[in-house]
Formats: sequence, structure tokens, C-alpha cells
Amino acid sequence: MMQIIVGKTAGPCFGVKNAVDKAKEELGKSEKLYCLGELVHNEEVTKELEQNGMIFVDKIEDATGKVIIRAHGEPESTYKKAKNLGIEIIDLTCPKVAKIHKIAREYTLNKYYIFITGKDNHPEVVGITGFCSNNYFVIEDELNVEKAIERYKASKYKKLLLISQTTFSLEKFENIAKIIKTKIPEVEIINTICTATKLRQEETYEISKGVDAMIIIGGKHSSNTNKLHEIASKNCPTIFIERAEELNEKEIENCETIGVMAGASTPEKSIQKVIEILEKI
Ligand code: F3S
Repeated sequence: MMQIIVGKTAGPCFGVKNAVDKAKEELGKSEKLYCLGELVHNEEVTKELEQNGMIFVDKIEDATGKVIIRAHGEPESTYKKAKNLGIEIIDLTCPKVAKIHKIAREYTLNKYYIFITGKDNHPEVVGITGFCSNNYFVIEDELNVEKAIERYKASKYKKLLLISQTTFSLEKFENIAKIIKTKIPEVEIINTICTATKLRQEETYEISKGVDAMIIIGGKHSSNTNKLHEIASKNCPTIFIERAEELNEKEIENCETIGVMAGASTPEKSIQKVIEILEKI
């Protein structure tokens, strides 16, 4: 019989759960409810919300009613635009992301140059850089560090801060921090990686070391789910699916042990469906 190991940290984190619950609550109250971008990177959740009347827009200018800001957050300019347009905002920015916004604003005012480890153009990073001025560089991996340092040295700034997108890999962040520290010892480092992400990554690593295969459930655009896939793939064959229906039983029927992990935006019911299929095998 196949042994199934489901990660304790699999599934929605506090920030996502909070955003989805509040958005649903608000749907019942408002006549027209908009959301800036996908509420969570999960097609099933998006479809369900759409069916219940939520309207997804890319720009605040396209909204004519209350607008939700999702857990990823938005740049400061969005709040200003909303004010000018007289649009009411329901701010569901995860408190952990909001804290990074505060840090970015404070250090910008204190004339720091800011390195942000993360994925350039990811909505969360766009939000964070929106609280900086022209004093930042996004470091995607170790290969970017040299360029980042060059930019900092060529700028007018004399102080340096390193922060991170909440879902960045902890291992990579520590490596990057070490490289920067050897070149610029006075760098200030604030590890802003979310603990939920960190724990999920650690558990994924541990489980994937001891199983024949791993299933990662989550949206293909979800940054944190992609990271889990990357981590598990290093240890065992890993299958990345968004919905239970995508699971190809043939791929796993010979496995004796199988691990299951899910990203922060994956609803509990998607995880449950996958477990039910595995139990049948
Ligand atoms: Fe917030 Fe962490 Fe989730 S930053 S949205 S609790 S992954």
C-alpha cells in the first residue's frame, strides 16, 4: 500500500486565508466589487469568485466601485490614484508585506540604497519598489549581486539595506547576504521572508528527501509554489499540478511513498481531492 505523507504546512497561509475570507464577506455586501489582479494565484479560486460577481481588473482606473487590494500589496501610487478617483479601497495586503512597505519607505527616507531579493516584476516586488524611489535593485539570484553592487556604488547613496520578497528562498537569501557582506560589511540586513514560507520550504525539503515522488499542488504563476517545486525536484521526481484532475496516476502507481505539498494560495479542498485520489491508488 502506498504511504502518503502530507505536509503539515501545506495550503493557505494566514495572509491568503484572510484575503479570501474577507473578499468573500465583502462580496455579500457590495453591489460591485473589483479586485486588482488575481486575488490569489489559483484558477479555481478565481473562477469561483468571478461566478459570485467579483470583477478582476489590472488597473485601478478600470474600476467603478470598491476595490480590493490583495495580499501581495500594491505600490503607494495605487493608494494615491484611488484617493484622486474617489475609489474606496479594501486593503487586504498581508500584514507581513505591509511591514516591508513600511521598512522600504522608512529606509528610503533615511537615504538608503535598497537591495530586494525577489522576482523582478512580481506583483509583491512591484508593490515594495513602489515604496522606494530610484534607490533600489532587485536581485533575482547570486548572479545579479555584482551588478547590484555596481549600481549601488555608482549611486549617490552611502548606506545599504538588504530585504526580501516574502516568498524568496531562504537558502538563496542567506547566500546572497553572505556575498554582499563580504563586499560591503556595513550592509544592514533585514530578513523579511515570511515564516510560513520558510517552514513550508523546510518541510518540503525534509519530506522530499525520504519519498519516491513528490506532488506539489498550486498555481503555475504562484511564486511560492514554484519554489517548492524547485526544492523538491532536487531530491526526488516531482509532479507539479494545479488541480487534482491533472494528476496522472500512471506516473506514481509504482511509488511506495509519496509526499504531498501545496503552496500558500492552494485551497484546502484541492489538497483533499489529491489525497482522495492517492488513497484510492
Ligand atoms: Fe503573507 Fe506569508 Fe502568506 S507574507 S500572504 S502569510 S506567505
